[in-house]
Amino acid sequence: MSETLIDDRPKVGAKPKPQPPIGLLAELTHRCPLRCTYCSNPVELEGRSAELDTETWKRAFSQAADLGVIHLHLSGGEPTARKDIVELTRHAAEVGLYTNLITSGVGVKESQLDALFDAGCDHIQLSMQGADEAITVAVAGMKGAFERKEAFARQVVARGFPLTLNSVIHRQNIDQVPLMIEKAVEFGAKRIEIAHTQYYGWALKNRAHLMPTKAAVDRTIEQVEEARERLKGILVIDAVFPDYYAKYPKLCNGGWGTRTLSITPSGKVLPCHAAETLDHLDFWSIRDHDLSDIWYDGPAFQAYRGTDWMQEPCRSCERKHIDFGGCRCQALALTGDPNATDPACIKSPDHQMIGDLARSESAYTPDPTKVSYRLIGAA
Ligand code: SF4
Ligand code: FES
Repeated sequence: MSETLIDDRPKVGAKPKPQPPIGLLAELTHRCPLRCTYCSNPVELEGRSAELDTETWKRAFSQAADLGVIHLHLSGGEPTARKDIVELTRHAAEVGLYTNLITSGVGVKESQLDALFDAGCDHIQLSMQGADEAITVAVAGMKGAFERKEAFARQVVARGFPLTLNSVIHRQNIDQVPLMIEKAVEFGAKRIEIAHTQYYGWALKNRAHLMPTKAAVDRTIEQVEEARERLKGILVIDAVFPDYYAKYPKLCNGGWGTRTLSITPSGKVLPCHAAETLDHLDFWSIRDHDLSDIWYDGPAFQAYRGTDWMQEPCRSCERKHIDFGGCRCQALALTGDPNATDPACIKSPDHQMIGDLARSESAYTPDPTKVSYRLIGAA
């Protein structure tokens, strides 16, 4: 009998296999009771009829766990707008994923909260648009939202579950940063994210309305540092500052196709939540492919993984393994070239342009009637 020998030694010049992802952002739906001006969802939101069904999401979560994902972020839109949110959470917990529910909190009933915790939800991340009703209405376009969020936060904490507040900061609410930190303590949250707006989707559309001045950003940096010192052991404060005023770009999503992946409501699997703007890429769907095949072999994941795709100045830069050239979506949005160095980088030929843009937009007096509130079907 002849013996078939399989040569499984790595081929010379072959690329090493990427590590498995650690996080999955599942955008279960784009439906949402809030209409935030800073939303990073695409302007062309997907309606209910396009959404994946329950069984397909469950299959995706099982495949994610098999692939090595640890953290599952159940997001949207508002994930609790899905009638099957408890069933999906239970399935995710059963396959061993750590589940983080990212919610606006405004439509969640106490009985639903109990059912979510029973199902194995591990953590709640509550969005906070302002520290009072007036700013919350101005940002989220919904009356009564602040009161409902406060009640929801207290219900989560009363059940002994960990709560993080997520405050996206921009010109409309930047003066409330100290107050939002105080509210987080008052509500009993263990952590707050003071995350300056990243300009994708609706936030990009409303950028002139949202861009804070450099002086206001610098003030928040001092406020955060002071509060971190004062609240040690009480509240953890994470901060993300705007890269339009930065010297170097952010390491976006931990590097393209390196640590995380996202699934849209209709099932497209993306290397980052804003990747659909790179419309030259081919995004495979979870309806047609196994998640593992998409992660390792999907053309969109391979497009900007690693450093081979880079052009100068990134190609010969000593920081190329630190930030991987910054954000592809931002490079496309601001330069028209998805392969360009992120203009947030001081070495980019477009760096001056991004700083000038931030300075001129933050100096403009916004007209509140011109802001676009998030709306399905608006595009
Ligand atoms: Fe990062 Fe490219 Fe700038 Fe170097 S040139 S710091 S790799 S964005
Ligand atoms: Fe897409 Fe940064 S948001 S690469």
